[in-house]
Amino acid sequence: MTEAMPFRNKNEAALLLINIRQLLTLQSSEAGPRRGRDLGNLGLIEDGAVLSVGGKIVSVGKTKDALGDSWIKSNRKKIREIDCSGKVGLPGFVDSHTHPAFTAPRLADFEQRIAGATYEQIAEAGGGIRSTVEGVRKATRSALAGHVLSALHKMLAQGTTTVEAKSGYGLNLDAELKSLEAIGDAARLWPGAVVPTLLGAHALPREYEGREDKYVRIVCEEMIPRAAKRKLARFVDVFCDRGAFSLASTEHVFLAAREHGLGVRAHLCQLSHCEIVPLVKYDPASLDHMDYVGDDDIAALAAQSAISPAHQTVATLVPAANHFLGLGRFPDARRLIDSGVPVALASDYNPGTSPTTSMPFVLSLACTHLKMTPAEAIAAATINGAHALRLADCKGSIEPGKDADLAIFDVADYREIPYWIAGNRCAAVIVAGAWQAALM
Ligand code: NIG
Ligand code: FE
Repeated sequence: MTEAMPFRNKNEAALLLINIRQLLTLQSSEAGPRRGRDLGNLGLIEDGAVLSVGGKIVSVGKTKDALGDSWIKSNRKKIREIDCSGKVGLPGFVDSHTHPAFTAPRLADFEQRIAGATYEQIAEAGGGIRSTVEGVRKATRSALAGHVLSALHKMLAQGTTTVEAKSGYGLNLDAELKSLEAIGDAARLWPGAVVPTLLGAHALPREYEGREDKYVRIVCEEMIPRAAKRKLARFVDVFCDRGAFSLASTEHVFLAAREHGLGVRAHLCQLSHCEIVPLVKYDPASLDHMDYVGDDDIAALAAQSAISPAHQTVATLVPAANHFLGLGRFPDARRLIDSGVPVALASDYNPGTSPTTSMPFVLSLACTHLKMTPAEAIAAATINGAHALRLADCKGSIEPGKDADLAIFDVADYREIPYWIAGNRCAAVIVAGAWQAALM
């Protein structure tokens, strides 16, 4: 526990967490996202301590070293100290795939599915993504921001400190921009970090039925340039699948995003196998769902990861969607991990397939259905989520220089985080070195 820096000015709050029974630092000597065996490496310190100053982590180590540190001793009065005895501390979850810009649950879809209809049948019969659009188009920007903020607060209370948030229920220029504005408004009122994504190509709006090319031109020529110019989005996403957008449309959208300086990501292989290999050249930060991937796709992603640690594509798995749709089938995480593809876990919070804000629940599903170990699931939901957002320089692990974003769980062993289901064991969150909850 050394390298502690002096306060740069008297307003820079310092926070010292001590006696953390298990501190999961997620530090690793490997560059890039965690792959293969390294995915299960949590960098665990028993009886750990973390010091942050001015929102950044300054030092990480054992409590006894922290308390013996000369800088900490001489500044003790200025440092807020929290005793985390008996608890587990880890990086705040990075939920790298969510759709919070909607106004209402889809209860008719829910009942139809219970009665036996599939996601695609429900969409064809008038439910699905397009049935959420009317509410979003009618909503005011501030009402929509209220819905987004309410979801962000629920996420924070369960240990999530960084969230990717997509538009995608407006499906015209005004309503997509309004959705991104609402995400930005909510983000400014929330302590964590929000990464906005334009998902104009989420579904073909009814008024463009049979005219995919025309709608894709609006996405490429109007939505992307406007969102980029106003810095409303950092990424552009496309739903590329059977019944959604084609590979050709996806490439058009990716090219337009690149032209306007935005990163790309996609929903892929959720309902059917789609070609992944032609998309790798666009350097997607993440390809998500991945229920139907082929050997060639896996080989291409694993090879790309081995070549360029800075430009890796993460496979983001969202098992709460499989669970909520009542599918017997889950993505083959073991095959991806064992082949060397970096895997992240995310909630996919949305009204159609995954109405959950809980990353611990997602971890639990990943352990039970994807056969990921608790350690792999935690790494996939923290450091690999940060890589999936290209934010790993500041998020996803507890190491000097990174943002002091932590979750403290009221459990004695990290494996309890996915073990206790349908309850919330998150005792507190720290965002940018500031204590957010008083549950301890
Ligand atoms: O990730 N598949 C595309 N998008 C969402 C579902 C959106 C919805 O049904 O409202 C997903 O599962
Ligand atoms: Fe999604």
